[in-house]
Amino acid sequence: MGAPAANGRGFAPEPPSGVKVWRSADLPPALAGDLHAAFAPHYDAFYEDVYGPLAAAVAEPVLVRVRAMKVGASPCALDVGAGTGRLALPLAADGWRVIAVEKSRAMLARLLDKATTAGLRIEGWLGELRPGAVEPASVDAIVMTFGVVDYVVVDDDLVRLALACREAAKPTARLFVQPTPRGYFADVTSSGRRYSGVVEVGDRGSGRVDLRQVVTLDGVVVVDERIALKVRSEAQVERAFRAGGWQPAGREHDGIYPLLVFEPA
Ligand SMILES: C[S@@+](CC[C@H](N)C(=O)[O-])C[C@H]1O[C@@H](n2cnc3c(N)ncnc32)[C@H](O)[C@@H]1O
Repeated sequence: MGAPAANGRGFAPEPPSGVKVWRSADLPPALAGDLHAAFAPHYDAFYEDVYGPLAAAVAEPVLVRVRAMKVGASPCALDVGAGTGRLALPLAADGWRVIAVEKSRAMLARLLDKATTAGLRIEGWLGELRPGAVEPASVDAIVMTFGVVDYVVVDDDLVRLALACREAAKPTARLFVQPTPRGYFADVTSSGRRYSGVVEVGDRGSGRVDLRQVVTLDGVVVVDERIALKVRSEAQVERAFRAGGWQPAGREHDGIYPLLVFEPA
């Protein structure tokens, strides 16, 4: 995870200068073990092939809610765990200033390449959101879609992340979180036309899971990775965000993922 950088802590330079990365070529090189290094080039194609429109549908309710917000002339969105840009790209195309925070270099590189190809300007932040990383009270919408919170396995780290989001948020901001439903993680094989994926789950108790994901493309293994996750109930997620200065402002379910909406407390 992460990459060598000036501050020697594996991430791009510290705030308040921020990391304004527009091209993947500007990113520091990856360290061995960069999260999703092998999966990133296949991420979009895998989900599209195996889940089709269902994969895009997960982001749709978030986009609808963000687009419905009453915002000023230059709205700003913070996409935490932005992945390959499922939310960041459409929001940038809508004219939002988008800050994409991603701790996987490979995923962020993919996002920035897509943004460059699409002629969109996205500010990439390689690493984790920290207090002071983004100008205080500057962000209208914060999105954490498709199970990003599961990757934050330590509860106190999730509270710290919520606090950093709270600091970045305008008083009118909304925060949109999609935790992965508990029952979702099971040993499962899923296949599309060219891709197939095998997920093995080793339970370590207290909701922590060691997930092994193997992805094949045309029968050849292209990904074999392990990810440590913590699967929380909606109540547990809510508790962490309340501790981070947020209060619930709504809940929806797209049929696959719950969408928890928060506002500054
Ligand atoms: C399942 S992907 C979801 C990506 C994207 N949000 C989407 O909807 O497609 C989770 C991503 O969150 C990133 N991630 C996890 N924890 C993070 C953190 N604390 N800060 C930044 N990125 C994080 C991972 O590297 C991974 O790319």
